[in-house]
Amino acid sequence: MCGIVGYVGRREAAALVLEALKRLEYRGYDSAGLAVNSGGRLLVEKTAGKISALETRLDGRLPKGHVALAHTRWATHGVPNEINAHPHTDCGGTIAVVHNGIIENWAPLRAALVKRGHKFRSETDTEVLAHLIEEAYGPAVPLETAVAWALKRVEGTYGISVLSTREPEKIVAARHGSPLLVGLGDGEYFIASDASAVLQHTRSVVYLDDDEIAVLSPDGYRVTDLETGRIEKPVSRVDWDLSSVEKGGFRHFMLKEIMEQPESIRNALRGRLLEDEGNAKLGGLNLTDEELLSFNRVVLTACGTSWHSALIGEYMLEELARIPTEVEYASEFRYRNPIVDEHTLVIGISQSGETADTLSALREAKRRGARTIGIVNVVGSTIAREVDGGIYIHAGPEIGVASTKAFSCQVVALGLLTLHLGRLRSLSVLQGREVVRALNRLPEQALDVLARASEVEKLVSVFEGTSNALYLGRGYNFPVALEGALKLKEISYIHAEGYPAAEMKHGPIALIDDSMPVVFIAPRDAVYQKIVSNIQEVKARRGRVIAVVTEGDDQIAGLADHLITIPETIDPFTPVLSVIPLQLLAYYIAVHRGKNVDQPRNLAKSVTVE
Ligand code: G6P
Repeated sequence: MCGIVGYVGRREAAALVLEALKRLEYRGYDSAGLAVNSGGRLLVEKTAGKISALETRLDGRLPKGHVALAHTRWATHGVPNEINAHPHTDCGGTIAVVHNGIIENWAPLRAALVKRGHKFRSETDTEVLAHLIEEAYGPAVPLETAVAWALKRVEGTYGISVLSTREPEKIVAARHGSPLLVGLGDGEYFIASDASAVLQHTRSVVYLDDDEIAVLSPDGYRVTDLETGRIEKPVSRVDWDLSSVEKGGFRHFMLKEIMEQPESIRNALRGRLLEDEGNAKLGGLNLTDEELLSFNRVVLTACGTSWHSALIGEYMLEELARIPTEVEYASEFRYRNPIVDEHTLVIGISQSGETADTLSALREAKRRGARTIGIVNVVGSTIAREVDGGIYIHAGPEIGVASTKAFSCQVVALGLLTLHLGRLRSLSVLQGREVVRALNRLPEQALDVLARASEVEKLVSVFEGTSNALYLGRGYNFPVALEGALKLKEISYIHAEGYPAAEMKHGPIALIDDSMPVVFIAPRDAVYQKIVSNIQEVKARRGRVIAVVTEGDDQIAGLADHLITIPETIDPFTPVLSVIPLQLLAYYIAVHRGKNVDQPRNLAKSVTVE
């Protein structure tokens, strides 16, 4: 989704912010722009398309100046063209604004501004901000005061950064719902919507909270509230390696991240398994055993791939910890009248920790008295900071838009939580130890699966010319069917549906013919014999069956057209292994079709608007 980078300091700012902005390309966008405060003038360049198109347009003639803002836009209001790209300027062209989020009351604001003589150029909601700031920016008013005045009049979400020619050494930034951080350098300061943009220059950052304003100049920075009252903020350190946000020899981030899974699963487990006690140690939960025992219900809420891991969590928590669990799309939960109280544990799962719907669902749950925890990847993200406690999955930066290693690590984190809750409630020490053993084996087993990548690649030919595919699984592998189908459609644009294998008879079976690839996820687990029957039903209709099975499976080998094997593990952790061939399959098919695997069309890495 949209990305913001800003710089004040002594270096040439345009080249710097454009390079930094490239680190945010992975978030997904459709136009890009730049504003530089250059010798008393604001120079603004914008274009539809990629940052490279903006560079081509500039043709090496970057505007000179030490203060600049750059932005990647993911269209919400108005098509992705040059005019709608950010930065947006006021009538006089002396104020430039970049904005992530949505101004919900833009229409009445715009109408009122037009009545007062303001001239609008774009169709965006953002442009109202530039004109509102212009209204308040009288001769004796500093930019931050004008920004605060404008922000008090808008409804919706924003992360904004603003430049003005009248105060050429200043950037004013503010947040309400869309992430922003200040990067601290030596005589230079950065503003960014994502830490990866500034990693090359500094690891010291200050995360802004909602309704805070940051004022940056080469001499320093300060954070205030909307009334300009100063706020002391802690400085955080970003531990990520620069190499972890680079491709490291892989053709795509997605492939790199798929291949990193043995290591990321190991990191998710590190220091958390208590082998003798058959238990898991989760320091960040901030919940005592008594509190954990006081919950009579768990609600898992998430979006996208994280919602799929939540479904697996539901199966685990009910089976092993015997606690009633429900899964809700965060976007639905937040606008229903959900039944949660102080005996409900609400768990938000989010790779980015910034997904607007998941964040709002957790806030709603909190308002109703529930305890909230987050299963989050990005350290210091908004969800991680707002929940009562949580489990970091430690997958490392995930840059490819299609989530891969975050999914497997989320399932592992849910496994750890289930183990801990289970040991408090229903699991014996011996059962607990079995879970610990299974978790401990996962990194090596994931490596085994990855070693078979070339066999998966050969299956690309099965999808040659196809425009539909079906993914079927049961039990713990029903959510894997959903995830496999999602991976395929996200990056290859082949329509794919995931279904519970038996439910297929109530509809999708009508689609099956000899040109339809049907992917079964059928490891040897509690529902194995049931899914064998479903494979037979598909074969009886001449469907082309690809099956992910446990090593040594002869029965499905005799039925399926193509087989991919995975090592044996206990049922709840089969998804961690069975999802890997499906990630690879989607990847190879998309590459074969020449698609932009890391930045698929229309998608965003982190969806910060609802
Ligand atoms: C977007 C991404 C998905 C991700 C979903 C939820 O749609 O493209 O890959 O699963 O958001 O994101 P989150 O960061 O909350 O896990």
